[in-house]
Amino acid sequence: MAERETWTSRIGFIFAAVGSAVGLGNIWSFPFQTAANGGAAFLVVYLLAVFLIGFPTMMVEFVIGRRGESNPVAAFEKLGYGNWSFTGGLGVFSSLVTLSFYSVVGGWVLSYIAGSVTGGYFGDAGAYFGSVASGPVAIGAHLVFMAITIGIVASGVTDGIERATKVMIPAILVLLVGLAAWATTLEGATAGYEYYLSPDFGVIASNFGSIVPPAMGQAFFTLSLGFSVMIAYSSYLGRDDSLPADGGAIVVVNTLVALLAGFVVFPILFATGGAEGAGGGAGTAFIALAGAFGNLPAGGVIGFVFFAVLLFAALSSSISLLEVPVSYVTENYGVGRRTTALAMGAAIAVIGLPATFGTTWLDFYNDVVFNLLLPISVFLLAIFVGWVADREAIDELGRGSSIGSSFTTAWLWWVRIVVPTVVLMTLWLGLETLYEGLTTGGYF
Ligand code: PFF
Repeated sequence: MAERETWTSRIGFIFAAVGSAVGLGNIWSFPFQTAANGGAAFLVVYLLAVFLIGFPTMMVEFVIGRRGESNPVAAFEKLGYGNWSFTGGLGVFSSLVTLSFYSVVGGWVLSYIAGSVTGGYFGDAGAYFGSVASGPVAIGAHLVFMAITIGIVASGVTDGIERATKVMIPAILVLLVGLAAWATTLEGATAGYEYYLSPDFGVIASNFGSIVPPAMGQAFFTLSLGFSVMIAYSSYLGRDDSLPADGGAIVVVNTLVALLAGFVVFPILFATGGAEGAGGGAGTAFIALAGAFGNLPAGGVIGFVFFAVLLFAALSSSISLLEVPVSYVTENYGVGRRTTALAMGAAIAVIGLPATFGTTWLDFYNDVVFNLLLPISVFLLAIFVGWVADREAIDELGRGSSIGSSFTTAWLWWVRIVVPTVVLMTLWLGLETLYEGLTTGGYF
């Protein structure tokens, strides 16, 4: 079998992992979930979820990945717990399902880049969304987005993924800072900042049950946790890199990008009417923003830059989603990377087709991942590292770093008790959402 590739440098790994984390979740979903769930109140709960639950969970995946040094399924075998491989498999499955609809939204982004040039959405933003979000245009754009993803993954870990993310991540940061600076000049920006940044703790208290599950789901999704992606990526990592330091950098940059996206989106929304109506699901975000761009001076240029940023972010994530099943098949069955990337990509594109029929299918796929697959996967990972894996595996956390064994022990107890408890609670509340959608005909 071919020699396993590794990242050419620690920075290469960080870029790729940040690329996976920074995606549609940060720039599209985060501001609109915030808008839908009471503004700053949601922001507070989300930040707690990212740092208190997300970061420790990322360490769980890093420990399994670096110690397992192989794809997410074989990693469990290498650690000596082959009967837990299904946990890695569940992550691979979730990646596959997620990529199938993520690519459909990636296709929408392509259409909005085109619309910024042609002025297609300037007149009637709702009608434009209707014309590109389902039907032939949606199918075509979905296939183009998937083809680009396949192209990058087929080129390999260093030549494809590492090289692409090293260009895309700095571009995203620079362009977002530019957009946020421009947004300060908008009339109404102050009202936007206020909605975004001054939390009403009363809102948190009275809506706790409805804010926590989306905040938690968003935290896992944005950090690419529960998809085996971080297991796969950290398996290419050198033995003497510090897992907590790398993870900390990834979480901080990812959070910065989400916060920055809020500094772009809220002033724009408030300059043209406010956040009401912007948080109602997959499509409303595109309609609200495109409508705003259509009403602003030089809106086409701003729209073009914004959707280009969104495209980079989406691609740097979609390649990580494809890398997971591809690394699994190439290593387990010895099939070449190019063939595998093409075959898996094509299969995933087909699975995503229903999401091009209408946004209800997309919402359904999204809710299954957020409310079911993700929490189950994170729960299993926490139980495995917390209660099953031996201490030698646990100590992987401190290898190559200056943290002491008391840090490792504190983390271990956190992963044993707090993470699974919070995740189970989220799962319960999320199942209610799914059940309601299915029984009241909300989806189909
Ligand atoms: N973290 C990405 C985002 O926020 O858009 C989405 C994602 C990528 C989730 C890769 C999971 C994953 F494995």
